[in-house]
Amino acid sequence: MFIRHETLEKNAFLFLLLTLLTIAIGGIVEVIPLFTIETTVEPVKGVRPYSPLESRGRDIYVREGCYVCHSQMIRALRDEVERYGHYSLAAESMYDHPFQWGSKRIGPDLARVGGKYSSEWHYAHLTNAQSVVPESLMPHYAFLADTPLDTDDLVNRLKAQRTVGVPYTDEDIANALADLRTQADPSADNTALLKRYPKAVTVPGNSTAPTEMDALVAYLQVLGTMVDFADPANEKLRQ
Ligand code: HEC
Repeated sequence: MFIRHETLEKNAFLFLLLTLLTIAIGGIVEVIPLFTIETTVEPVKGVRPYSPLESRGRDIYVREGCYVCHSQMIRALRDEVERYGHYSLAAESMYDHPFQWGSKRIGPDLARVGGKYSSEWHYAHLTNAQSVVPESLMPHYAFLADTPLDTDDLVNRLKAQRTVGVPYTDEDIANALADLRTQADPSADNTALLKRYPKAVTVPGNSTAPTEMDALVAYLQVLGTMVDFADPANEKLRQ
C-alpha cells in the first residue's frame, strides 16, 4: 500500500492525472443537478407569471432597492411561519428573474404581504410611512405617485422574460398594454385580465396614465397570494 503510494508520489504526471480526476468527480456531482433544475423546482398550482402592471411594479421595487431592507423568503422556522405565514416555496419565485429573497431585514419580510393591507394603505405608507406607522424608519417614496409609468418597452420586457423561461403566451404579449391599463382602472372590465392573471388586484389608479406607484402597489398586493394553501390540491404543502 505505502509502496504503491510512493510510486504515485514520485510520478508527477500520474499524480496530476489522478488529482484532476478526483476534482472532476467532485465538480460533476455539484454541476449535474443544475442542468436538471427544471425538475428540481416542483411546480405548484396557482403560481403564474406576473401581470404586466405587477411586472413593471417589480422593476420599480428592484430599481428603488427595496430588497436592501426587505427580504422575500419566509424560512421554515416556527417564529417566521407564525409571523408571516406559510414558508416560501421554491415555485413561488420560479418566475422571478432575479429572485428577491434578499439577505437583510431592516423592515419585515414581504413574501406574503399581498392582501395584508388595502391598496390605499400602501399608497399612504409609500408616500409617507410615518403617517401610518409613526415609529417607521422607511424612506418616503411620494415621487412614485407623480411619475408616469414608462410603458414604451413593456412588450420587449415581457419578451425578455420569456427568453429566460417565463411562459408568457403570444396572447399575453399582444394584450400587455391593455391588461396593464385595466389593472390600474377600477371602472374597467377586468374579466380578461383575471382570466390571464388570476388574483390580479386592481389598484385605484388612473388607466390613461398609470404611475409607478400604481405598478408597485399591484406588485405588493400579489406577493405570496398566488398559492391557495387551503386548496385540497395543495394538501401536502400544509404545515
Ligand atoms: C431603509 C430601509 C427600508 C427601505 C429602503 C424600504 N423599507 Fe419598507 N419598511 C422598512 C421598515 C423599517 C418597515 C416597518 C415599519 C413600517 O411598516 O413602516 C417597513 C415596512 C414596509 C411594508 C409593510 C410590511 C408589513 O408587513 O407591515 C411594506 C409593504 C414596505 N415596507 C414596502 C417597501 C417598498 C415597496 C420599498 C421600496 C420602494 C421599501 N419598503 C423600502 C424599511 C425600509
